[in-house]
Amino acid sequence: MRFDVITLFPDMFNAIKDEGVIARAIKKSHLSIHTWQLRDFSNNKYKNIDDKPYGGGAGMVMQVKPIRDCIHKIKQSNPKTKVIYISPQGQPLKHKLAKELSTLGSITLLCGRYEGVDERIIEHDIDMEVSIGDYVISGGELAAMVLIDTISRQIPNVLSNADSLNDSFANNLLDHPHYTRPEVLDNQAVPEVLLSGHQANIDTWRKEQSIKKTQEKRKDLLALMQRK
Ligand SMILES: C[S@@+](CC[C@H](N)C(=O)[O-])C[C@H]1O[C@@H](n2cnc3c(N)ncnc32)[C@H](O)[C@@H]1O
Repeated sequence: MRFDVITLFPDMFNAIKDEGVIARAIKKSHLSIHTWQLRDFSNNKYKNIDDKPYGGGAGMVMQVKPIRDCIHKIKQSNPKTKVIYISPQGQPLKHKLAKELSTLGSITLLCGRYEGVDERIIEHDIDMEVSIGDYVISGGELAAMVLIDTISRQIPNVLSNADSLNDSFANNLLDHPHYTRPEVLDNQAVPEVLLSGHQANIDTWRKEQSIKKTQEKRKDLLALMQRK
């Protein structure tokens, strides 16, 4: 999977390029992240890419031309890339969408700043908008990193143990509880079944716990499961 990211703050992406699961996946060539500094596509000597909004009001708006030119440049070598504008007005990011996107070979992420992008970009230059939740953050970069991380986890061999793909939401259930050493601490003991060595019983217990947790914390997911 190739990610191209259009941003005013390319260095922010070093956080995931240099550490953890994503860094390991890059090293093993399961994915690559290429950042594009939008200011390099500015047509003025001050490298501005934003301007005042028509109709007045607070904030600045990201201009069409630099974004369009940058997308064209990316598409020259990668015509089939899916262009996603990271936006609070987009389709909500859920496990199912991340899984679908993980089957693509190439994704371009456009990170907004200020009041966002000129509407003509949304109308003509992008394939979809994706939101990470019903709240507003200051820029698309953090949201793009969330998207890159969750999509990458679904790419075969990115996680060293494929069982990790049975995390919360994979089957519209929350994950079961986890325990590690010691067996007892401050009178709190690990459930006996986990020490039994009986895998079938352990699997049954985990499934039951998963359903119980979902019932307690996210009843809405159980409704989704029943609809399947
Ligand atoms: C301050 S926000 C602009 C918000 C915009 N004026 C609105 O109210 O819809 C600047 C940028 O942050 C990103 N952003 C903010 N909240 C987001 C969210 N919930 N999901 C994805 N991206 C978000 C978008 O790229 C957006 O263009």
